[in-house]
Amino acid sequence: MNGSDPALIEFRGVDVAFGHHLVLGKLSLEVRRSEIVCVVGPSGCGKTTALRVASGLIRPARGEVIFAGAPIKGPRRDVAVFFQDYSKALLPWRTAAGNVALALEATGTPRAERPDRIASCSRTWALPPSRKSTPRRCRAECSNGCRSPVASLRTRRT
Ligand SMILES: Nc1ncnc2c1ncn2[C@@H]1O[C@H](COP(=O)(O)OP(=O)(O)OP(=O)(O)O)[C@@H](O)[C@H]1O
Ligand SMILES: [Mg+2]
Repeated sequence: MNGSDPALIEFRGVDVAFGHHLVLGKLSLEVRRSEIVCVVGPSGCGKTTALRVASGLIRPARGEVIFAGAPIKGPRRDVAVFFQDYSKALLPWRTAAGNVALALEATGTPRAERPDRIASCSRTWALPPSRKSTPRRCRAECSNGCRSPVASLRTRRT
């Protein structure tokens, strides 16, 4: 990492309000490629809101977020989110493997390559095999502890 690298993500004077409640006010922040940034603050100060803006899920009332040189105007296939309430955010109509497949689908991994990649993830993370005796849905397949790796793998191509 080099301090003179251009920012990969740049918040420029971002305001977000829910009704009259201003949650983010003139937030400016730069994150460079390969940098790991930890945003710390009290509950309700707007950390998740900032991540939602960075991923294009919320449009700021004012200001903008630049990603790789272009303004974020909506959700992008090359930006993945590990939701704070990840257990609720898994797609309930898909199996565990089907949720893991989402990142491969979104990023255009050829269909023929997906089963091997998913099988490899399932082995590494000991995800449950789909069983005929249980409904083929991730809530039925996965214990609470298993939902965390499924949600994490759902954000990754590899
Ligand atoms: N969709 C929404 N509609 C209305 N208010 C919202 C919405 N999303 C968040 N808020 C409010 O915005 C404020 C910031 O919420 P946010 O979830 O960003 O906080 P946080 O810093 O991530 O908190 P925590 O540490 O508890 O996760 C809170 O007061 C929350 O109630
Ligand atoms: Mg939060």
